[in-house]
Amino acid sequence: MTQFIRAAIVGDEEVLARLNRFVQDLHLVQRPEHFKPTQIRELAEWYDSLLQSSTARLWIAEVDGQPVGYLSAILHHHQENPFARARDWWEIDQIAVDPTYRRKGIARSLIVEAMNEARAQGIHQVEAVTWSFNGDIQEVLRRLGFVSKTIRFERKASALPC
Ligand SMILES: CC(C)(COP(=O)(O)OP(=O)(O)OC[C@H]1O[C@@H](n2cnc3c(N)ncnc32)[C@H](O)[C@@H]1OP(=O)(O)O)[C@@H](O)C(=O)NCCC(=O)NCCS
Repeated sequence: MTQFIRAAIVGDEEVLARLNRFVQDLHLVQRPEHFKPTQIRELAEWYDSLLQSSTARLWIAEVDGQPVGYLSAILHHHQENPFARARDWWEIDQIAVDPTYRRKGIARSLIVEAMNEARAQGIHQVEAVTWSFNGDIQEVLRRLGFVSKTIRFERKASALPC
């Protein structure tokens, strides 16, 4: 089994749209009120514009020449304000691996690639937001040395206060 990580380029939008189901299906099952079923054509257009963005980078993982996973990362910039200093960081936005190829180090390789790119650009911070239900990606991030930074709470406004 030969694993290879390559930068995604314009023309890969359909491949990315197909790989996306490995994360979208999970999101849809867990939070159907938030996520919606996707259409390949609409997704391909969305990835096409992401691939052309100067602040996005995407990678595709291949095994024996077949695409089996991907990662997208977005460069963020926050200007200084009265409360916080200016900062730049790369955010891992999406990552998914075909279930058949999980636990073989593919997500690790994709994340390492994104971190190398951040370093090459002189960006010192890489972040990722995960849903609370997603213990799998949280474990992957911990194994790669990421630590929890903020915790987001939610509650239905219609529920009675306790
Ligand atoms: C989360 C996901 C990307 C992990 O991909 P993967 O290729 O199986 O992960 P890797 O094999 O590179 O694992 C990296 C490390 O995390 C560990 N790990 C991976 N999945 C794990 C799990 N479910 N439970 C515990 N540890 C896990 C591995 O053992 C490995 O540890 P090591 O390097 O110390 O040996 C994959 O399960 C997936 O696609 N899930 C659905 C999509 C998703 O949830 N995406 C994130 C939301 S945006």
